[in-house]
Order: sequence, then C-alpha cells, then structure tokens
Amino acid sequence: MELTEIVEPLLKWYYGNARSLPWREEPTPYRVWVSEIMLQQTRVEAVKPYFARFLQELPDISHLARASEDQILKLWEGLGYYSRVRNMQKAAQLICTEYGGEMPADFEKIRALPGIGSYTAGAIASIAFGIAKPAVDGNVLRVLSRLLASYEDILKQSVKKRMEEQVEKVIPKIRPGDFNQSLIELGALVCVPNGPPKCQECPLLGLCLARKRGIQQELPQKTPPRARRLEDRTVLVLVSDNKAILRKRPAKGLLAGLYELPNVEGKLSEEQVLSYVRQQSLSPLRIRQLPEAKHVFSHVEWHMLGYLVRIEEPEMTPLQQPKEELLFVEKEEMDRKFSIPSAFGAYVRYLRETL
Ligand code: ADE
Repeated sequence: MELTEIVEPLLKWYYGNARSLPWREEPTPYRVWVSEIMLQQTRVEAVKPYFARFLQELPDISHLARASEDQILKLWEGLGYYSRVRNMQKAAQLICTEYGGEMPADFEKIRALPGIGSYTAGAIASIAFGIAKPAVDGNVLRVLSRLLASYEDILKQSVKKRMEEQVEKVIPKIRPGDFNQSLIELGALVCVPNGPPKCQECPLLGLCLARKRGIQQELPQKTPPRARRLEDRTVLVLVSDNKAILRKRPAKGLLAGLYELPNVEGKLSEEQVLSYVRQQSLSPLRIRQLPEAKHVFSHVEWHMLGYLVRIEEPEMTPLQQPKEELLFVEKEEMDRKFSIPSAFGAYVRYLRETL
C-alpha cells in the first residue's frame, strides 16, 4: 500500500463526516493555536466551554500577552497541565515583541515558540496558513500504525519522526489543513483509541494493512509508562466565619502558582491536624474528618485524607498574622479569582457547602 492512496478517500470522507467545531468554523492562527493546546490532553466536548471563555476574555494574541498570571490560570482551571497556558503566554509575548503581534506564517518560526512542538506547529501552519506540513499526534500515530501494520513503539520520538516524514511526502498542497484534520477526525470517530475500531465505517477499509491481517486491535504498540510515585497527603478545609483559607503554591514544580487548600505530607490524625493548625497561629474550634480521595497526575498519585476545621476569626494584629501566607477569601472571590486545581475538587466541595 502506498500512503498516497489514502489522500482522496480520506478527504472525501472528511467533507461528509467532519464534526462542526468552533475552531474549524473560523480557523484563525490564534483560534487554531488555543484549540490545539487545549486539545492536547483534553476531550473535544470538555474543551468547548473553555475555548469559548478563553476567546471571549482574551480575544487575540496581544490580550493573552498582557493578561495577569491569575487570569490565565483561572481560565485554565480544571484543564490541568498548567504549563501549557504559561508557555502560551510566553509565546504570545514573544510574538508581540518579535512579530508585531501576529503569528508568523512560517513553520520553523512557529515551531520555535515556547510550548509548540512539531505537532502543534504543523496544525497551525497547515490549518491556519495552508502550509503543507504534517500534524502527527497520538491519534494520527494510531491511525498510521494500523494503516501500515506497524508494530513500532509510537511513544518513541524516532518512530514519530519517521511517520511525520511519510505524511509529509503525501500531504496535498491544497488544503493541507483539511487533510491533517481528516486523519485526526478518523482517529477520533472511526479508528478509535478505546475499544475496537469501527472498520465498517472506515473510508480506508480496503487499504488498511492491519485490517487485512486482522491485527488492528493489537496496534498501536506503546511501551507501558513508568509507575507513578504514591504520596499520602492531608488536606485541610479551613473555614473562618464566612471565609475559606487558601494558600498559593510555590512558583516552581507541580501545580506551580495555583491556589490550594492548605495540605501537608502524610496522613495526619485529628490531634496532629489540630497541632498543625495551632502552629499556623490559628485557633481551631471544631474538627471533622472527611472521606479519603485520590488524584492522579502524570508522575504522582495523591492519596488524600481531609479534615474540615472551623477556626476562630483571627484578629489581624501584626503579631497574630497567620503563617505561610495563608489567604482568607470569601466564596464569591474564590470562585471569581482563584484557580484551584481539580486535585482538590473532592474537598473544595465541602468548602462550598460550608461557606
Ligand atoms: N484534536 C486535536 N486537534 C483536533 C482538531 N483540530 N479537531 C478535532 N480534534 C482535535
């Protein structure tokens, strides 16, 4: 099978079956960029409301460049992998200083921006500018390994690079963006990741080598990811009068710069929690244990135990300032301003119920 044979049937299928998506309706460089970054780790349906809100609040590259850190993190709240949006802002600032605020119509220049790899650069270049560059992500790798009956490990950079070279040879000069999206769309709707592929609906049924050999379900091959580190944590839902107590995370590392419920390593007993709270110069009034919860990050898994602790409204004399830069915030302010990662979702619920 020659890969060039897929071009026509795939495009024809795409024009008849593509989903109508907000970023497809009006594929400006900025809209394509924002959507592709959001779609990297998140499903299409989940991305839609985030995409709409992001575009409304930050309608173009210069708005993104000038936004506050808290605003961009708030817009990303719940999407995870926050370095994605920090890098987008860095790139936006560079585009403003280097390219007058417009995304350059040049694959290599796009590729050189922070947070933009070969996939995203290919997507922006092809979809927004009609440049004939491939956009090979995990979905496309799955489609290609099945089409070519390849047992190579798609998590290897070398394999991805070779697939990109093969696509680049056949990508049509007219509407390369539609061609890239047709591969993505086939991976999303037909050559699906979980469960059996829907070969009966596939426009490439007659060409697919995996299907011919009956091995489509064995592909693609991926090396299993390394085991995650397990970490016990105790999360504190601290309420004082009608205020929640939040803490800003350090500027570096996991969930950098986001706001969190105060928490400590290990699973603490009630006594230990009360003692910790007092160490923060706070006076506990009541304490209640909350159910355990789990959150899975890419490299760590948090196994959490929670406590709801009501504390006395502190008198904010200089000597009684709470330690560790704890912030006392009202519910409305918390919802509007502070981005709290989903990892704390199980306990933020109690906070909302209590306030
Ligand atoms: N996933 C990644 N990029 C996409 C796109 N442009 N359309 C739909 N799903 C996608």
